[in-house]
Amino acid sequence: TDPIRLGIAGLGTVGAGVVKIVQRQADLLAARCGRPIEVSAVSARSRDKDRGVSLKAYAWEDDPVALARRDDVDVFVELMGGSDGPAKAATEAALAAGKHVVTANKALLAHHGQAMAEAAEAAGVALRYEAAVAGGIPVIKALHEGLAANAITRVMGVMNGTCNYILTRMELAGLTYEEAFAEADGLGYLEADPELDVGGIDAGHKLSILASIAFGTQVAFDDMTLEGIGRISIDDIRQAGDLGYKIKLLGVAQMTGRGLEQRMTPCLVPATSPIGQLVGGTNMVVIEGDAVEQIVLRGPGAGEGPTASAVMGDVCDIARGIVLPVFGQPATSLKHAPAATAEAP
Ligand code: NAP
Ligand code: HSE
Repeated sequence: TDPIRLGIAGLGTVGAGVVKIVQRQADLLAARCGRPIEVSAVSARSRDKDRGVSLKAYAWEDDPVALARRDDVDVFVELMGGSDGPAKAATEAALAAGKHVVTANKALLAHHGQAMAEAAEAAGVALRYEAAVAGGIPVIKALHEGLAANAITRVMGVMNGTCNYILTRMELAGLTYEEAFAEADGLGYLEADPELDVGGIDAGHKLSILASIAFGTQVAFDDMTLEGIGRISIDDIRQAGDLGYKIKLLGVAQMTGRGLEQRMTPCLVPATSPIGQLVGGTNMVVIEGDAVEQIVLRGPGAGEGPTASAVMGDVCDIARGIVLPVFGQPATSLKHAPAATAEAP
């Protein structure tokens, strides 16, 4: 059987993790996907950097757009990050060249997902992004597949590993904000611009993508009520604890009579609740639907292995020939999402 051939742009935390899985699990992947998965070519800024994995067998491209257009690439795997610049240019080039795309880039999708979904559907190729939301948790798959028969009523949860890590390390280990932040950095959790994490923007990107799938709307990130954790002090955390609460950066999306309400803000949650007990880089997504009632998905939301696991799940689906509508229904049928003003929780 012909292999499916990857072009990987970005060899940082996630990209190196993907290469490691392709190399380590070659036999398992071939058996489960029905065909071998190979890497043809890779790209990053620095050719000389040690990535902790051998790249000798792969062609090198300095330009990710050239990588996206290579004849020996079937799936363009975008792991550079950034809502514009090379990630956008190379993803657009890949879709225009009729390549499948797998990305972990929630910023790109929050800002350009609609146009890219329409381009992918016009070209008849996949645009997959499981790793973009909640790291290793297969939440996109859950919404697209297992919950397809439900009218979703609410999606909520903790979707940024960095913020949850910082808040829980401050609370449980008595670390300063700066110490906890440095630890999160060492674990590979941070975005290239960490303000995206602590400012709540990264989590907001993720919630806007989930809301689009859940409610059949166009991604409406700009309409979200957003606040990060920058103003949370150790005293706030202690006082919340004294009252039996934890402070979490909590996202909620629900359709109201006035439109789609989306908010990502620090909230008090009962210390004994499942979200209150979430520690470290762990994410939790709660989905409520008319038939299923409520499901809770919990798992690692960031880091090399969990994120690469989600990327490779998408690659496997493409190798098996699964090309879903990008947002669970054709992108051209998605409704505009009038913004509802968030009410106080
Ligand atoms: P990272 O460690 O900063 O790696 C980014 C990679 O992209 C680096 O290899 C870098 O090259 C390369 N790159 C940057 N600009 C480039 C350009 N202009 N041309 C070619 N290559 C370029 O980032 P990451 O943590 O792996 O994240 C990658 C993507 O996954 C982002 O969209 C992020 O939001 C998403 N994501 C990350 C995680 C996580 O836990 N880290 C989880 C879920 C999703 P050099 O190495 O040569 O500098
Ligand atoms: N910076 C992100 C986080 C990576 O901390 O959750 C996973 O998307």
